[in-house]
Amino acid sequence: MNPNTVQAIDTYIESNKDRFLNELLDLLRIPSVSADPKYKADVALCAEAVKQRMVEAGLDKVEVCPTAGHPIVYGEKIVDPKLPTVLVYGHYDVQPPDPLDLWHSGPFDPVIKDGMIYARGSADDKGQFYMHVKAVETMMRTGGLPCNVKVMIEGEEEVGSDNLGLFVANNKQKLAADVVLISDTSMIANDVPSINTGLRGLSYLEVEVTGPNRDLHSGVYGGAVANPINALCEMIASLHDADRRITIPGFYDAVQELSAAERAALAEAPFNEEDYKKDLQIDAVRGEKGYTSEERSSIRPTLDVNGIWGGYIGEGAKTVLPSKAYAKISMRLVPDQKSDTITKLFQDHFVKIAPPGVKVVVKPHHGGEAAVTPIDSPAYLAAAKAMEETFGKKPIPTRGGGSIPIVALFEAELGLKTVLFGFGLDSDNIHSPNEKYGVFNYFQGIRSIPRFFHHFAASGRKA
Ligand code: BES
Ligand code: MN
Ligand code: MN
Repeated sequence: MNPNTVQAIDTYIESNKDRFLNELLDLLRIPSVSADPKYKADVALCAEAVKQRMVEAGLDKVEVCPTAGHPIVYGEKIVDPKLPTVLVYGHYDVQPPDPLDLWHSGPFDPVIKDGMIYARGSADDKGQFYMHVKAVETMMRTGGLPCNVKVMIEGEEEVGSDNLGLFVANNKQKLAADVVLISDTSMIANDVPSINTGLRGLSYLEVEVTGPNRDLHSGVYGGAVANPINALCEMIASLHDADRRITIPGFYDAVQELSAAERAALAEAPFNEEDYKKDLQIDAVRGEKGYTSEERSSIRPTLDVNGIWGGYIGEGAKTVLPSKAYAKISMRLVPDQKSDTITKLFQDHFVKIAPPGVKVVVKPHHGGEAAVTPIDSPAYLAAAKAMEETFGKKPIPTRGGGSIPIVALFEAELGLKTVLFGFGLDSDNIHSPNEKYGVFNYFQGIRSIPRFFHHFAASGRKA
């Protein structure tokens, strides 16, 4: 990379630092919560704001594309059709801010404290996708883009990207590219840069257990009639055995076991279990026998209850045998488990294990497939080189535990591999109260992305 270009890029970023930060804060003030219909207008407002910012950055053909749900914002800069094209993906929607009383400042009232930007969406994903908008601006104002870019920022990632699949399938030409670049994952630490090379899949369901046709007096009927909450708890408890393996028949059939060499490579990443426990204030870790905490949270499938409710939860006591009980259950999947297959296995099993006297309904929500990204592609090498330059250290490839279902979809629909160029940290509290993103991380991203573009452009065409 030309040293004058590097210098020009870094100088431009440095001299626009305050504006780059303030623009992000403005975006964070828009409560673009995709899950809750009461924020629908704010989500639409956010899409317009993103569009405006993309125009200002110098992108062409910027448009807000309506979908059956929340809109997708798209823009591109084609400098030369013969050059490679990078498709940037991100999401401007955010998780609900609840529970509100645990926030130290308003979730949509961003504050910077001790070098961290506190706000819902700061790390997931506004702070991360906006790095790309600012990186494009920076390249445009310092000699131009070294290759083509297409930017697609959606508004439904946090609710399962229901309408994105159709958009991608209907716009294959528009989205044609050589590689997908996404900043929506985390690194090991600010002094231990890493690149995520895998994401887990997901199967999300809701279950409803019904006992008697109405709530009953627990003294008059209790002991003689099945209590749906008791039944639900027994059923859920039976889904793991003593080794913390999932008991659904067939659940592990398609799981790809990693070779000893692959596991050894993963174990190279620094991980301190004592610090991990201390941070979470837990006295022990717990998970599948035979695997480390890092493996349990990345290369192994899991089953977790996300919410459970029913009966009386108001003030004081009410002696009641409830009619209904509910739970939301998610399973994180690994290659080659298929989301639909696992959902079906769960459904059949859960209905089968219902004790006498209760009826069970399982309602599938969204799902998505796991993905593994290459570590020897020109795009990965370009990303690794860019990070090595900005962090002064080679990034370590790691497998992540979260899900971005669109990654598998990009591969299936567009034949594209992804580079997960994330700059967050696991401690950023994404989806939790007091979500935060480091000012350092934001600018490291803005500095690293133009370097990626230059290295990738220099490496030729195919990812
Ligand atoms: N950015 C996250 C995914 C993520 C976070 C991957 C950290 C790796 C490390 C994304 O916004 C997210 O939250 N995805 C959801 C799935 C979606 C279908 C709701 C998830 O992982 O729960
Ligand atoms: Mn995200
Ligand atoms: Mn998220």
